[in-house]
Amino acid sequence: MDFELKTLTPSRVCSEKCDALVVLVPLNMAEGDDALSLLVEAATQRGDFERKPGKLLQAYRTSGIAATRLLLVGVGEGSAKNIRTAVTAAMGALKGGNAQRVVLCMSLLKDAGASHMQAAVLACGDAAYSYSATKSKVLPAKLQRAVVAVTSAAAAKAGFDKALGLVKGIALAKEWGNRPANHATPVMLAGAARELAKLPRIKAEILGPKEVAKLGMGSFMAVARGSEEPLRFIVLRYDGGLKADAPVVLVGKGITFDTGGISIKPASEMDEMKFDMCGAASVLGAFRALGELQPKLNVIGLIPSCENMPDGKAIKPGDVVTSMSGQTIEILNTDAEGRLVLCDALTYAERFKPSAVVDIATLTGACVVALGAVRSGLFSSDDALAQSLLNAGERSLDLCWRMPLDDEYADGLKSNFADVANIAGRAGGAVTAAKFLQRFAGKFPWAHLDIAGTAWKGGAAKGSTGRPVALLVEYLLAQAALPAKPLLLAKAKKVSIAVKTPAKPRVKAVRA
Ligand code: BES
Ligand code: MN
Ligand code: ZN
Repeated sequence: MDFELKTLTPSRVCSEKCDALVVLVPLNMAEGDDALSLLVEAATQRGDFERKPGKLLQAYRTSGIAATRLLLVGVGEGSAKNIRTAVTAAMGALKGGNAQRVVLCMSLLKDAGASHMQAAVLACGDAAYSYSATKSKVLPAKLQRAVVAVTSAAAAKAGFDKALGLVKGIALAKEWGNRPANHATPVMLAGAARELAKLPRIKAEILGPKEVAKLGMGSFMAVARGSEEPLRFIVLRYDGGLKADAPVVLVGKGITFDTGGISIKPASEMDEMKFDMCGAASVLGAFRALGELQPKLNVIGLIPSCENMPDGKAIKPGDVVTSMSGQTIEILNTDAEGRLVLCDALTYAERFKPSAVVDIATLTGACVVALGAVRSGLFSSDDALAQSLLNAGERSLDLCWRMPLDDEYADGLKSNFADVANIAGRAGGAVTAAKFLQRFAGKFPWAHLDIAGTAWKGGAAKGSTGRPVALLVEYLLAQAALPAKPLLLAKAKKVSIAVKTPAKPRVKAVRA
């Protein structure tokens, strides 16, 4: 779908020719004597239209309105969340119809800021996405163009452009999440990363089994052993900052299919384990958005990708492997494989002397039990980083919730035969998984997002959500707006010299 931003007053909206005019109507609408405002007032007064978020009134060939179809949709108080609800409802009502060119009118909103614009465009993009990669008949998408009407396009431009970048990133994450495991192998994910490297300032480096063995990633290799598909370790770089700026590292779990391995999963709904690479897909999506938005910071994306399969060569419960960090791991359950691939990626991240490392993973069923599909689980040993991610989630309506990391949660990870076991008891499973990862993340500020409940939907609406691309990009853009942390400071921290002096603010002109 193409988007266009246009300045249109309510009276100009009336004469705008299109297949469908979707009008966002707030409780506190300004009075006007144009056909649209009068119609809204009349419908409200007669009790035929309620301005609660998502409530609809539809009309066809209305006098005084040039659009073929008219949809009034309530946005209540007009918050970004209400706007998302409203646009989702309106786009749902248009589905199955014949509308190709839609005008989304935000001109009746009194204070539509960047977050409102973003919510509207993202909800539109979400509704316009359709999966076709493995269907034999591909119907061309009906909805082709959305014109977003506001009272001042100049004021809304920055929010609009940011939202367009996000729509592309989210669509890419959804697409790779949705593709079945035989159409989204580790090699194919690496291909997607190579494609991204065509965008400005993005580079991709792909490591295979030989290179990974040389690095000593014994834990990652152990998971990949049971599959015929060769593993890939994907390294993406976005160089938007100065050479000396410490990067943010994103690490995405890229298990392209998780059978559980020898600790095999039950058959029911096992197909959904094709989504076990949604962390990886969110990193690809974030890079797609970075390529569009070109913010001034450095970002590294790391994706350890392989299948988790049972086989004659597969790892067995009780096997002990040596991770890249040197720590030995007793694999008591081969289905706890996400942490085994992530731990080596976290160790690899050390070489970038990062300002922060955020890993994103469909890590535990326990996180689904704890938080459901509303908020992703956020774990971090660094309060400032946790707060930045929580804030980014609120701003982008891609929510997360901070979970604890008390050391007592690690008690169950003790092993008689290795430095650490890969599982603890059943209780607090999302936290014990995070505690395992934390052992490998001691050398930088670290956060972990467990997206097991939020990355995809099951049931009739089965499909990837593209979360948490919006959260990640929102966070990265906020980092780009701050003075960058030079690499040297990160280095000093690494050798654990207490560095109290804050990083010198950089001169803006130098960074341009
Ligand atoms: N990919 C799964 C987590 C998962 C399960 C996400 C169901 C969404 C829905 C992960 O690799 C896994 O199997 N985790 C185990 C860990 C357990 C063996 C400690 C789990 O959550 O059951
Ligand atoms: Mn598993
Ligand atoms: Zn898994």
